[in-house]
Amino acid sequence: MTGLTDQAIAILRRNDRGGYTVPTHGLYPYQWNWDSAFVALGFAEFDRDRAWAEIETLVSAQWSDGMIPHIIFHQEDPGYFPGPSVWATGKTPATSGITQPPVLASVVRTLWEAEGADPGCSRMRALYSACVRSHRWFHEFRDPKDNGLVMVTHNWETGRDNSSEWDDALSRVDTTGVGTYQRRDTGHVDAAMRPTQQEYDRYVAILQFGRNTGWNHREIADKGPFRVVDVGMSMELLRANRDLLVMARALSDTDVVTELEQRITLSEAGMDWLWNEDVGAYCSRDATTGESSSLVTNASFLAFYAGVGSKTQQARLLNALERITTTAHYLLPSLEAGSRDYDHKRYWRGPIWLVVSYMVAQGLAEAGHLEWAERIRTDSSKLIEKSGFYESFSPETGDGSGGPDFSWTAAMWLAWCGKGGQL
Ligand code: GLC
Repeated sequence: MTGLTDQAIAILRRNDRGGYTVPTHGLYPYQWNWDSAFVALGFAEFDRDRAWAEIETLVSAQWSDGMIPHIIFHQEDPGYFPGPSVWATGKTPATSGITQPPVLASVVRTLWEAEGADPGCSRMRALYSACVRSHRWFHEFRDPKDNGLVMVTHNWETGRDNSSEWDDALSRVDTTGVGTYQRRDTGHVDAAMRPTQQEYDRYVAILQFGRNTGWNHREIADKGPFRVVDVGMSMELLRANRDLLVMARALSDTDVVTELEQRITLSEAGMDWLWNEDVGAYCSRDATTGESSSLVTNASFLAFYAGVGSKTQQARLLNALERITTTAHYLLPSLEAGSRDYDHKRYWRGPIWLVVSYMVAQGLAEAGHLEWAERIRTDSSKLIEKSGFYESFSPETGDGSGGPDFSWTAAMWLAWCGKGGQL
């Protein structure tokens, strides 16, 4: 155990580029939004100052409208596509033009509470304000139905890049104008673990649409080629609003308290729009066609983390979890085996990602399902013990997939699964 803890610390130190951490050397040479949030939880276990700095660097690239971008290109690296010149957002520092899951407020709360929850903590106060602005951005630009859920305009925003949940919406994306480009990801890892070329063309076409609007997020939200209400981000934002509310109350920020209470009520009621009664789970849903993906993914189980679902709905989710144990040797796969295009090695179509497992386990524990939370935690630590700190892991064999020496996997070991029974 100590050996793995030392290794995890060494990975974070090695991937530290001075104030921010790359997800892994080579494949992802920049700062990613939700990676940094989880990485901060890892740093907090041995260097609190560095944990705050990770998030402060991320937030320093927040757009004036409140959006926190999904990638910050602190320095050019030819080994990644699409780089800053492809996004062409014109920001300093250079950034991508889309966002990523809003888990930041939840992490800020954790860091702040670990330091004694002093309302006078200036680092918390600054990040709290950044989170309030970011959550308002979601509300203003990404809630077209005004039901407190989150619509994404690029599948990369979800953080679950090639999940089968996006296939139908992606199949309608016109790729005829994409032109030629050189992918870099498949030069770093086995192509069988990455999205296909056809998928990549669609990702680039959606990017180009945004760029052609001058990154006008109103226009992108109204007319973009990809408009899906993501179950993952909807759950994460609801949870993040609850965590932000705790800080708003501690700061006696009464207007924000009222605003957040209203949003939370809206989202709690709105979430039923994602419930799929036939499947017995929350599923992502297309904002244009209204179609449910009907797919059970790891994000479906974030309902516990968000604190939603009636007793019956939660019982059905637990049934789904039980069913998944009959095909998955390790929990929690990103897609249930037998689902359309399930592939235990391919990215978000089956492999286990510890950051999502962490949130799901936290939610299950809070809801009193301690055995399930512990099962997910011990499976997660077994994966690291067996295969090392990979980007993701096969739920069938436990082998690592994607990049090695991954920052957020190391962080999850330190903050969660390597720690024994605590969350
Ligand atoms: C991949 C993942 C995404 C992550 C990024 C950097 O794109 O799908 O969730 O943020 O890599 O690790």
